[in-house]
Amino acid sequence: MNEHIRTSRPDTSRPSGNRKPQGGSHVRGDDTPAAGKPRSAGFDARRGPGRAKKARTEAEPFIRRAIPDIDTAFTRMGIDARVAINLPPLGLNEPTPIQAQAIPSIVAGRDLLGLAQTGTGKTAAFSLPMLTRLLIAGKRPEPGTCRALILAPTRELATQIAQNVEAYAQGTGLRAFRVVGGASINVQIDRLSRGVDVLIATPGRLIDLIERKAIRFDDTSYLVLDEADQMLDIGFIHALRRIAKLLPRNRQTLLFSATMPKLMEELADSYLTDPVRVEANPPGRPADKIAQGVHFVNQGDKATLLAEYLAKHPGELAIVFGRTKHGSEKLSKLLEKWGFKVAAIHGNKSQGQRERALASFRAEDTQVLVATDVAARGIDIPQVAHVYNYDLPNVPENYVHRIGRTARAGRDGRAVAFCAPAELGELRAIEKTIKAAIPVIGGEVPVGAPASARPSRGAAPATARKRPARRPSRAPRATQG
Ligand SMILES: Nc1ncnc2c1ncn2[C@@H]1O[C@H](COP(=O)(O)OP(=O)(O)OP(=O)(O)O)[C@@H](O)[C@H]1O
Ligand SMILES: [Mg+2]
Repeated sequence: MNEHIRTSRPDTSRPSGNRKPQGGSHVRGDDTPAAGKPRSAGFDARRGPGRAKKARTEAEPFIRRAIPDIDTAFTRMGIDARVAINLPPLGLNEPTPIQAQAIPSIVAGRDLLGLAQTGTGKTAAFSLPMLTRLLIAGKRPEPGTCRALILAPTRELATQIAQNVEAYAQGTGLRAFRVVGGASINVQIDRLSRGVDVLIATPGRLIDLIERKAIRFDDTSYLVLDEADQMLDIGFIHALRRIAKLLPRNRQTLLFSATMPKLMEELADSYLTDPVRVEANPPGRPADKIAQGVHFVNQGDKATLLAEYLAKHPGELAIVFGRTKHGSEKLSKLLEKWGFKVAAIHGNKSQGQRERALASFRAEDTQVLVATDVAARGIDIPQVAHVYNYDLPNVPENYVHRIGRTARAGRDGRAVAFCAPAELGELRAIEKTIKAAIPVIGGEVPVGAPASARPSRGAAPATARKRPARRPSRAPRATQG
């Protein structure tokens, strides 16, 4: 347990039964019951257009008529049974450490800073208690407002969070809606005019919508910053300041990330009121089950080396991170020419192309996703077995997020960093950030490499071979330790 955790205020306001389900329409929600979803005896499953209209006109509380009579690890932490009943079919049976530590405090209404390694279920850690509180409050959103706002740095992550929230809220009547750039703003304005319970947004598009007076926040009781350290960083802080000052001061604010540099944490304080600070697992460290390695290689030889690694693991999903849009596009074309099934995702692609690339990768129609840092944070594709840092990130925290696209939800994963002589500075910064040396698994250790990379210091002597990096004589080992 973490010493920063404070005692939660008990929540006594359980809703009573005999409420009617909401029938309000929504744009992005998925109303179809999940296959095989268990329903308890008291569950009112009466839905459909006729009933929907009736419920709308009556403007009654929109929650399930009866609360399912279930007792699970999540209900015991205060999660509403109408939400908890959705979790087992999604594979959520026992809470992860961050969920166990964060949920009771959030249910009790506290502001919270939650730090936990990649792939450990932070999305559910903030969503489940927030949905619980929204249900308990039992209100409908006013037109042009949202009751909760979740901000995320990329369109793809916002979409994924919206899908998760919809799955957790399925059947409760709570409506989630996502607004991101690259999609029709008029459709978004139209949907917002009816009001939403949970709005998931990227800051840029949200600012556009604010300027068009499509959304007000006077009724917004919850603000979540996912990937909080990035949201507080230079690229987003101005938008965030503008948005945050429109929200009521007495809102509940939840900040989550796998990394939180000191400076960002100081900034974070100004958004939080008397917060609980929860750390599950060592924050800022790569997830436990990632086997990491660094391969020293000249920049010009990286493509050939990557092809060798990829060829060693046919049929397994790999994400390759490049630094620039142009370089990533070029690399994806080259890999395609060499016969790999590749998709690419970066800022020069249209939104449609980005979505198709991610969808084909998720569906395993393509095995390799070449990406810039646009896919570094939050994206959850459990089948990803390998991450290649084709170019080392110049923001060291992004190494932790990039390699965190593998080894999610308790699985194994491998991460290989390709380090050119010019990237030794980046390697040093990464090792400093993660407070560990990355084992050398191939290539010639350049002069000036971090001390930890030199064979004499015992990082990985057997693999730190002196040999030319061009065309390795045998396929390099992809993992270490
Ligand atoms: N209690 C649970 N039991 C089993 N699986 C879970 C549980 N909670 C979440 N998961 C699964 O774990 C995976 C990772 O969850 P999530 O994307 O929320 O991680 P994260 O901590 O936000 O990671 P990142 O830092 O990369 O954003 C998801 O596939 C999710 O469905
Ligand atoms: Mg996440």
